[in-house]
Amino acid sequence: RIYNIASIPGDGIGVDITEAAVQVLTTLSNTLGGFEFEFKTFDWSSKKYLERGWYMEDDGLEQLKKYDAIYFGAVGWPDVPDHISLWSLILPIRKALNQYVNVRPTRILEGTKSPLAAVQASPSDLNWVIVRENSEGEYSGQGGTSHEHSEHAIATEVSIFTQVGIERIMRFAFETAKSRPRKKLTMVTKSNAQRHGMVLWDKIFYKVAKEYPDIEIDKMLVDAMTVRMVYNPKSLDTIVATNLHADILSDLAAALSGSIGIAPSSNLDPTRKNPSMFEPIHGSAPDIAGKGIANPVGAFWSAAEMVRWLGQEKAADGLMKAIENVTAAGVKTRDLGGDKNTVEVTLAVCAEIEKL
Ligand code: NAI
Ligand code: MG
Repeated sequence: RIYNIASIPGDGIGVDITEAAVQVLTTLSNTLGGFEFEFKTFDWSSKKYLERGWYMEDDGLEQLKKYDAIYFGAVGWPDVPDHISLWSLILPIRKALNQYVNVRPTRILEGTKSPLAAVQASPSDLNWVIVRENSEGEYSGQGGTSHEHSEHAIATEVSIFTQVGIERIMRFAFETAKSRPRKKLTMVTKSNAQRHGMVLWDKIFYKVAKEYPDIEIDKMLVDAMTVRMVYNPKSLDTIVATNLHADILSDLAAALSGSIGIAPSSNLDPTRKNPSMFEPIHGSAPDIAGKGIANPVGAFWSAAEMVRWLGQEKAADGLMKAIENVTAAGVKTRDLGGDKNTVEVTLAVCAEIEKL
């Protein structure tokens, strides 16, 4: 079976880690056999935008629909305002391809540790899945600015929450919780200060919860949630939150688990009518770009999630095992306290795959 993968390396370390992920995926299919990946690279980046004035072709989204999955590095570069780069590439893809779920697992990998150790977080204390609403809410792109060039500028940033949008993310979150051993779901909002959309979230959460009597549920306000993640990580398992809240909470989760460089994400269209997209949660990291020291683990974990989504469960488990054998052996980049570079970690993971 051949899987056609659209690869979009993007900017900065997105390029290094995508190259590393392609190498690892190729080694995986060569070693295990039975499936192959065919990659088509799209040179859609901020650098190209500065040269030619566009990120993707007019029919770019149509082009992507032909693939089985999309692998994404990162987009954003200091010469282009971030709202332009994000709204020219990653956000239109998520929206047009109906990728309304963003799944972000977090755990402490073998041989690594949480900076939180002083508080209390061993691998068994921190094992979460954050389910992020990925299609609406605070990132609906609605609003505007008036009196922009005066001393009295006014801007609105309108969040849009719909019954359909909330219900489908809640169902996905409950199903995720159900698939995990602890059967526990925490829902995050800010329904004390925000009295419309967030209240609708709460209401629909309790409505959908009735269909899942076996799932233990609780509700948190987002500010208090950050405290609970730090001081009582063990009390959490599956977490569902809005587009903005989950974006922020997942960076915190990644940091608590050791580094933002290890955290994966899956942008899913659960209907499977469109390709889903897999990317590490980090950005293009201009501060370390070009130095060859980016941690490729988040990219590999994202690749494993892609392999799983494509139906190759055994290969996905094998890839995760290879990654953890490498971290356990102390072959780590600087962000995890090691001294290896991107290429060294990549070759070590490939060598572990070959032992599978
Ligand atoms: P960032 O995630 O790129 O970097 C934050 C910090 O984490 C930096 O110090 C960086 O060196 C470090 N870091 C990130 N990934 C790492 C890795 N794999 N290994 C080692 N260290 C790593 O976030 P920042 O600086 O806020 O954003 C940079 C650019 O990326 C901006 O243009 C932003 O808009 C964009 N961005 C794009 C995303 C995407 O394409 N999905 C997601 C987040 C940011
Ligand atoms: Mg983010």
